[in-house]
Amino acid sequence: MANSYRICVMPGDGIGREVTDCARRVLDSLSAGGGPSFTWEEQPAGHGTFLETSHSLPGATLDTARAADAVLLGAMDVEQIPPHGGDPLGGVRKGLEVGASVRPSRAVAGVDSPSADIDCVVVREVTEGMYARIEHMAGDDAACAVRLVTREASLRCARIAFAQAAARRDARAADGKPTRVTAVHKVGVLKLTDGLFLEACRAVADDHPDIEYETANVDACAMEMVRDPGRFDVILATNAFGDILSDIAAGLATGLGLAASACIGERWAYFEPVHGTAPDIAGKGIANPSATILTAAMMLQHLGESDAAARVERAVYGVIEAGDVLTADLGGSATSAAMTDAVIAAM
Ligand code: IPM
Ligand code: MN
Repeated sequence: MANSYRICVMPGDGIGREVTDCARRVLDSLSAGGGPSFTWEEQPAGHGTFLETSHSLPGATLDTARAADAVLLGAMDVEQIPPHGGDPLGGVRKGLEVGASVRPSRAVAGVDSPSADIDCVVVREVTEGMYARIEHMAGDDAACAVRLVTREASLRCARIAFAQAAARRDARAADGKPTRVTAVHKVGVLKLTDGLFLEACRAVADDHPDIEYETANVDACAMEMVRDPGRFDVILATNAFGDILSDIAAGLATGLGLAASACIGERWAYFEPVHGTAPDIAGKGIANPSATILTAAMMLQHLGESDAAARVERAVYGVIEAGDVLTADLGGSATSAAMTDAVIAAM
């Protein structure tokens, strides 16, 4: 008997609905071939939810997410939500006790890419750091943000990074590439916060003597990623640095149209494309659904459905390489629905 899963879906705002609908159709097509089946539990969150209910993350949404086998998220327009409207993305990340956002980047045949060699994964802490949302005005003309770094969250994130490195080792060794974790910091300036972060990274590195470990200043790391992207394997970073470096990695590989991510915790996990709500094309049915479909493949992998995950990934990459049914960002003129149909047909 194939497995059946309960997935909580938060379409969110902008193109979030369109792209999550595409990913759902792809996953629903798996059961016809004897693969897993899914029950979808749609839940509100985001700016639209704030406008309707004056809060952007209803308690019931988080309850449903916690009760589900996994969570698939579209995109949320957090910029439009005033401070009193809550922080839906942060709320989900904290509420599901996410240890890290795992964001892989590699070049894909058929997509113009500044780097053919890039094959890395950014493991980014997502609950604290510079994005802890502890801000206050210091008088009328100065504002202050607190950069919070805790040992617990740093250890949790570092463990996920080393687990990623271990999981990637065999495939990389087959290509003659090293297994390496690069912890990113600015400890010369942020002596206490990054000092503590690096202490935690070092402690986890000591548990993994078989994995190469190095540290890099964030600015030097950004430059080196552009100059020699192929040398990076796992990049381990605090929240804001990881936000920026994961977009650099995505830009060097495929752009955000294909960038997928998994937010992993010890009890729960949720999955979201790296891109945002794309308000300029929202509602037109032309958004590239690939990032969300590949995100859904990461969700399958997490659920233990490796075969199904591989089928979905191969189908997406096959459609892109064939080049006949592509959305506008990939140089084609297909709708999101047509590209999704092509992926399903390729499976
Ligand atoms: C991301 C996004 C979010 C983040 C924003 C929308 C708050 O940029 O997931 O990378 O930085 O956490
Ligand atoms: Mn980002």
